[in-house]
Amino acid sequence: MTALRYQSGFGNQFATEALPGALPVGRNSPQRPPLGLYAELLSGSAFTAPRADNRRTWFYRHQPSVVVGGYTPLALPLWATGAASGVAAPPDPLRWHPVPMPAEDLDFLDGLRTVVVNGDADAQTGMAAHLAFITRSMERRACVNADGELLLVPQSGTLHLQTECGHLDVAPGEIAVIPRGLAFRVAVDGPSSAYVCENYGAPFRLPELGPIGSNGLANPRDFLAPVAAFDDERAQPRTDWEIVKKFGGSFWRATQDHSPFNVVAWHGNLTPLKYDTAHFMTIGSISFDHPDPSIFTVLTSPSDTPGTANCDVVIFPPRWLVAEDTFRPPWYHRNVMSEFMGLVHGQYDAKPEGFRPGGASLHNSMVPHGPDTEAFAKASAATLAPHKLDHTLAFMFESRWRMKPTAWALRDGALDTAYAACWAGLKEQTTP
Ligand SMILES: [Fe+2]
Repeated sequence: MTALRYQSGFGNQFATEALPGALPVGRNSPQRPPLGLYAELLSGSAFTAPRADNRRTWFYRHQPSVVVGGYTPLALPLWATGAASGVAAPPDPLRWHPVPMPAEDLDFLDGLRTVVVNGDADAQTGMAAHLAFITRSMERRACVNADGELLLVPQSGTLHLQTECGHLDVAPGEIAVIPRGLAFRVAVDGPSSAYVCENYGAPFRLPELGPIGSNGLANPRDFLAPVAAFDDERAQPRTDWEIVKKFGGSFWRATQDHSPFNVVAWHGNLTPLKYDTAHFMTIGSISFDHPDPSIFTVLTSPSDTPGTANCDVVIFPPRWLVAEDTFRPPWYHRNVMSEFMGLVHGQYDAKPEGFRPGGASLHNSMVPHGPDTEAFAKASAATLAPHKLDHTLAFMFESRWRMKPTAWALRDGALDTAYAACWAGLKEQTTP
């Protein structure tokens, strides 16, 4: 497969055409758009959202997306939505072993299993964390998620994304964002898996940098958007496409006699994006103390309370530890935010053994957690020479809303019932 071309920059005003002259010049909706195409606007924000938050893209396409058959219900029972679809769980730290790849034929939609949920998609609040197990490509099947945007974290196998804006290849180590409402399909080369964050709230954006300045963390130019590409069906016999729409936590299907990927040209700043986490410029202590993990924020979905995210996407990539007189792993803590973590590859420094690639953990609001006995003993006695944490990529979806596990996660999700034992060896320190 040849390498795809991309355009660079987070939230840029891109302009791209797969056929020369397909983009109108100087206006968005001419009386007769070039090449006889239909103009269609996709808005990712309210029309009157502040300019800095306003996201929209103009499509020029063979058919507007309103041309689709009637929708009928579709059952995807393991894809849950909102806090109401979670179950009560005790305020213990929870952890899951990697779930083995299922034996069945599963495309991205069939293979999605929700682990935790919060908020309410109808209220555009909250998020969900899912695991996707994919053994086959979506063939002539596309998804439109009206409930939120999807952030994909591939764990094994490359995801080939086809979207209305074009194609993206996303490999482990990279992440991708598919905006709310944009049609997409996922193709794979073989069995593949991914973590997925579904964000019902404000679209992900880059965090403010404050005193860090104008550079650092995830730099805008390292985000890549696709170039326009469309399915040319003129030479092929027409067969139906299935459009699956997620709408208020329910799933609906319709068929149409043409590909939804029929956008010949587009311009705008509402686009799918991918980002290679190897480009993340980490910030850390060069004196003492472990800074707050917010220094590792890649993208944030703000809530209506400043600094209190609907969802932060945080990564723990390779980095140097150099702090003096410092316990270098994360400290013991409990906080108001709720934390869902996963591990793409390697080892996480606070849990060297029990937290495995493909696994997950949940430390909910005010649930205490921190380094396990082994990590504590090692870090307390370590010689504090510069040390590189290498060959590792952990991540966290952090939310102000408490996360509820699903029945699937507690029953079939490989829950680690012995998780609490990882702290059992911490001895009580008696003072003289
Ligand atoms: Fe934490």
